[in-house]
Amino acid sequence: MTEHIQFSPEKDCLVLLDQRVLPNREDWFDCTTTDEICYALVTMVVRGAPAIGVTAAYGCYVAAREVQKSGVGEWRSALEAKLDQIENARPTAVNLRWAVREMRRIWNEAGSVALGELCGIWLARAKEIHEGDIAMCEAIGTFGGALIADGDTVMTHCNAGALATAGYGTALGVIRGAVDQGKRIQVIANETRPFLQGARLTAYELHRDGIPVKVACDNACALLMKKGLVQKVVVGADRIAANGDAVNKIGTYGVALLAKHFDIPFYVAAPVYTIDPETPTGDHVPIEDRTPREVTHVGDHQITPDGVEVYNLAFDPTPNELIAGIVTEKGVLYPPYAEAIAALFR
Ligand code: MRU
Repeated sequence: MTEHIQFSPEKDCLVLLDQRVLPNREDWFDCTTTDEICYALVTMVVRGAPAIGVTAAYGCYVAAREVQKSGVGEWRSALEAKLDQIENARPTAVNLRWAVREMRRIWNEAGSVALGELCGIWLARAKEIHEGDIAMCEAIGTFGGALIADGDTVMTHCNAGALATAGYGTALGVIRGAVDQGKRIQVIANETRPFLQGARLTAYELHRDGIPVKVACDNACALLMKKGLVQKVVVGADRIAANGDAVNKIGTYGVALLAKHFDIPFYVAAPVYTIDPETPTGDHVPIEDRTPREVTHVGDHQITPDGVEVYNLAFDPTPNELIAGIVTEKGVLYPPYAEAIAALFR
């Protein structure tokens, strides 16, 4: 797949494949300002925890260049305000916060650096984060692929694929890893209302790669499991708490409860930096409350009566006791997660 996050030296900006219009169109979106970076994050031109982390890293460079071009005298405070804007674009995925804090750390360590020099340092670091993310996903694929048996049908929720990362994917990385290990597997992609990441994006990616995929309505999950059509569940995560609770796309918790009921192993795949030791449990993670329009409309078509209120909480925490293993680039973590995670960060 063409890389969906690209830095263009000619345009001196970040160029993103617009995920809002996939799979029907492949449009590209240029980010030359902090407002454009934040617009892309908030409206989900780019989405998925690691992908928004990579975007935020380039976003800090874009912000620094914007301040540089403006010629403002007090550049430090102007830049700080832009970094705050990027960090607060979406609240749930820890990767976004991690990327901006990483850039702040570098800035602090560089002391009285000139703005032009800082731009160069940040662009180099953003490229490293970008490339490092692909390598992490491939390692997740190697460890996770070993958990999948030949002939398995794997259910996934949302899109934790190449489009949600810099490439290869986390949950879809596990699936790609299994395929690379020579296993014949099939995938059930839950459609994932309301933004339809499963129906639009997971199906798009896997279909293009020739990996057999069927899209199922979110509410078909129980029946498909009861019929014995699902052998494993693998999902991504936006944030994993210190006790192993995993926050992911709304609906994941329900899938995990059903998997427990039907005795189907439920795995979470994520890079180590998605684990947030500062967050004690999943209930401490801020859950993004998105625009009602995503629920009231499908595309431009309104499906609810005028004036009716809706819920659009975008993520839910899955309690650690429902999780069979957490696949990271360093290996698979098993319960008790509090101890496994503490050991990882020691
Ligand atoms: O709202 P989104 O599309 O950004 O949510 C994405 C997810 O929930 C993914 O499963 C998660 O970020 C992991 S991506 C590797």
